Amino acid sequence: MWVGVNDRRLAMFEGVYSVPNGVSYNSYLLKDEKTVLFDTVDKAVGRRFFENIEFALEGRKLDYLIISHMEPDHSAVLDDLILRYPDVKIVCNAKIQTLIKQFFNMDTDALIVKEGETLSIGKHTLNFVMAPMVHWPEVMLTYDSFDKILFSADAFGTFGALNGAIFADEVDFNTDYMNEARRYYTNIVGKYGTQVQAALGKAETLEINMICPLHGFVWRKDLSGIIEKYKLWSSYKPEENGVMIVYASVYGNTENAAEVLSTMLRDKGVKTVMFDVSVTPVSEIIAAAFKWSHFVFASTTYNAEIFVSMDEFLNDLVAHNIQNRTIAIIENGSWAATSGALMRSKFEKSKNINILEHSVSLKSAITAEKYTELEEMANIITASITP
Ligand code: FEO
Repeated sequence: MWVGVNDRRLAMFEGVYSVPNGVSYNSYLLKDEKTVLFDTVDKAVGRRFFENIEFALEGRKLDYLIISHMEPDHSAVLDDLILRYPDVKIVCNAKIQTLIKQFFNMDTDALIVKEGETLSIGKHTLNFVMAPMVHWPEVMLTYDSFDKILFSADAFGTFGALNGAIFADEVDFNTDYMNEARRYYTNIVGKYGTQVQAALGKAETLEINMICPLHGFVWRKDLSGIIEKYKLWSSYKPEENGVMIVYASVYGNTENAAEVLSTMLRDKGVKTVMFDVSVTPVSEIIAAAFKWSHFVFASTTYNAEIFVSMDEFLNDLVAHNIQNRTIAIIENGSWAATSGALMRSKFEKSKNINILEHSVSLKSAITAEKYTELEEMANIITASITP
């Protein structure tokens, strides 16, 4: 039973990611011979959460709390829960117990579980699967082998409050929510693709009928669709061939070069998307970066550096371990252009990033010569997409 809570008043999740459609903090109650609560919620919604638990318990006591992740959006009311249910037995791994001590300065007499260990609560047997760095090092998943439910922690989460529908198959997920699932995964867990692959490998050995994540919809149908997306995202393989053009422009001339290039590519049948990096939130561009195969970065030079908003975005993109992409560079500088070489250098340590030799260096605005160079760039990109 879902006993989570929605928050539609939060402006910035983790202080970084805008959540215009809110966010859900999921928690689940399983009632067998014993009652088991899976995780808690953020402090902002604690009061409603405790109402939900009391209602769902229907007068029974709470026997176990399984903690899968200690990030405070899922653990902030742990101390309050223990005050309300002093007999509850915490079930967690040793790293989680350490983090409880760090966050709450509280010693816990927890049942410490390890990889492959189980807990029987009646008909249901709960199996514990460690999933370090999905998204913190302590994360563990729980598999209910009776109902074949995977409690997946942050994995398979989605931004956005649940508006009555709990299950992904009750909404048009691909049209209305896939972008937010991608934005959630790529920004929150995207850096840890290797670890996500390891967790997916473990999950593949399980027969799964339902996935219960800590944010967003529960999955009970067409699980392969979202699992395939996770395989792509975690292996940094693009979902689509096409060009994401990101530009930073002060007075519109760099933007114009980006527009001209985009038009040239479209004329050749290449899909393009465009972002003004000073306007679109970085988290949306990071999500798009995980989708598209080719990037063009166009930036003016500013204080002899990359323009500030582009610099911030590129740092974030590199930090998210983006791989397996082809990149083209456009710089602008009215007297001393440096942004092109600096943008190129950002990817020196990245894996499988191909930066085209052919770049375009503008002095203020497009000339006939630069128009020709943009055409050449469009031709090279098109050839690498459709060899
Ligand atoms: Fe929703 Fe990593 O916490």
